[in-house]
Amino acid sequence: MCGIVGYIGNNEKKQTIINGLKELEYRGYDSAGLAVMKDGEMNFFKAVGKLENLSNKCSSFSSEGYGFAIGHTRWATHGKPTEINAHPHLGQYSCVIHNGIIENYKEIKDKLEQSGITFLSQTDTEVIVQLFEFYAKDTDIFEAFKKTIDELRGAFAILLITKKDPNRVFFAKNAAPLIIGKNQENEIYFASGDAPLIGLCEEVIYLEDLSLGYASKEELAIFENHKLKQNSFTKLSGDKAFAKKDGFRFFMEKEIYEQSRVMSEVLMGRINGDEVVFDELENEDLSTIEEITLCACGTSYHAAMASAYLFERLAKIKAKVEIASEFRYRDAVIKPNSLFIVISQSGETADTLEALKIAKEQGAKTFAICNVDNSNIVRLAHLSLLTRAGIEKGVASTKAFATQVLTLWMLAIFIAQKKKLDISTEIKALLHTPNCVKVNAKLHEKIHRLSKRYLDGHGFFFIGRDVFYPLALEGALKLKELSYLHAEGYPAGEMKHGPIALADSKLYTIALMPKNMLYEKTKSNVEELIARDSTVLSISPLEFDLSDDFIKTNEQSHYMCEFFEMMVITQLLAMEISIRLGNDVDMPRNLAKSVTVE
Ligand code: G6P
Repeated sequence: MCGIVGYIGNNEKKQTIINGLKELEYRGYDSAGLAVMKDGEMNFFKAVGKLENLSNKCSSFSSEGYGFAIGHTRWATHGKPTEINAHPHLGQYSCVIHNGIIENYKEIKDKLEQSGITFLSQTDTEVIVQLFEFYAKDTDIFEAFKKTIDELRGAFAILLITKKDPNRVFFAKNAAPLIIGKNQENEIYFASGDAPLIGLCEEVIYLEDLSLGYASKEELAIFENHKLKQNSFTKLSGDKAFAKKDGFRFFMEKEIYEQSRVMSEVLMGRINGDEVVFDELENEDLSTIEEITLCACGTSYHAAMASAYLFERLAKIKAKVEIASEFRYRDAVIKPNSLFIVISQSGETADTLEALKIAKEQGAKTFAICNVDNSNIVRLAHLSLLTRAGIEKGVASTKAFATQVLTLWMLAIFIAQKKKLDISTEIKALLHTPNCVKVNAKLHEKIHRLSKRYLDGHGFFFIGRDVFYPLALEGALKLKELSYLHAEGYPAGEMKHGPIALADSKLYTIALMPKNMLYEKTKSNVEELIARDSTVLSISPLEFDLSDDFIKTNEQSHYMCEFFEMMVITQLLAMEISIRLGNDVDMPRNLAKSVTVE
């Protein structure tokens, strides 16, 4: 994910910014840049790759004495990781850095292009500086900044500097974090997370959504909903490791809690009225596809499995799912007019990459669903959609899975639209998903308490039907990855054909019982296990007295909303069991985040 650092003061500005950006490196990035304003003169530098490259680019530049600077690390979402697309983005006399996604950037860009403005980059960010200079032609600078921010829709943390007002840094924040810090030396810092500020600032302000303002040596003015606010600083905690995890105990926990925000980002700019829109696929005709093959490994394979149900149900296209390590050696037949979709968080998994090459050689149209732009898989596939999850540090995947399923569901709807099929109930449900994955403190506490009853036994069965079967597989995978206990995912209706032989009080069944998908059928299967004395934890919006433990979910009107709510519960359960067992949550034994060997 992108990172922001800003500084006002006497220190060597270039180095202050690079040091700050280093503290945000753990979030991942693929290019970086900075701009320094001093004595009315603005200098800027950008580089692709590591911060070291940026450092080398500006090695002969120095900026002692009072002035200010802004810097950014970019994780590509709109446009490839190139120097042109790196921040800061420049106008004639101003520049801007930005985290988040400007949802309506296309509208703004079209409007500005019609009035003769030329854009250099492929990013959504560039519209901010161009729009600002457009308004600054005939209005006061701060007014122009306000007008610009008022016109933006989406998520943003923004720092803007301009030679026309060389004594102030302008800032704005909505749905993306931005912090202002100060110290006794009268220096002001900006950052998108606590980590760069620790040790440099004593006090900070965590800006609220819909706030904007400006800062200079003499003045810090913050407006919230256009009203000037009293500046209320709070003390900054001093623990860097804690700050990097945003105060959570583990990266995995942070990533589970982040899911609501990243899912909003997946949707951003991709829903227009009651339609899914993908700019990336504007010129593609996907309506003639007769068959889809989905291919992946691990968690991504479970996302593939869940989406196969959606492609068939919504887009009425035959969909089959392949494990990449199997597919690559089994002389599979790929039909013409079929689409070969690979799913990968990292974009580098060797088995998936190889499967993609085979499908391409056989003449299939290939499509990557991936979290990393410019990865091998994205570069090789004909088409791609980025999942916008941001960097995932926990080896056991959580938010990457959530964004994969959401993106694939949107793709199924997108194809259904092209085929003029009925998707009337889908958009409302899509828009509701970020709410379904919000973690409620009471629920987390309940899962923590329940977890102590599930630390032994001779195995776990996660069971579900339809898309809840791949979710059961994913729940079981999370549990085994983290707890090292044996866990299996199984179709609920299949238990009676064998696995039920294992049922006794030390067999733990985690039953996914959504209201909107085959509730009665699943319930009967769970009752069969209860009759054989299996210990059952059921997860459902409908009370179920027969089970030993019960987690009540919210009443939802779409089964995919239930899917995402139950997904969070299984993630938290695996994490809490693992913590109780004293395991390393973020780095489970024997596992790697990206497997680039066969
Ligand atoms: C490894 C990871 C899994 C991941 C799988 C596929 O096994 O430990 O968490 O699901 O690779 O990775 P990909 O990057 O292709 O999604």
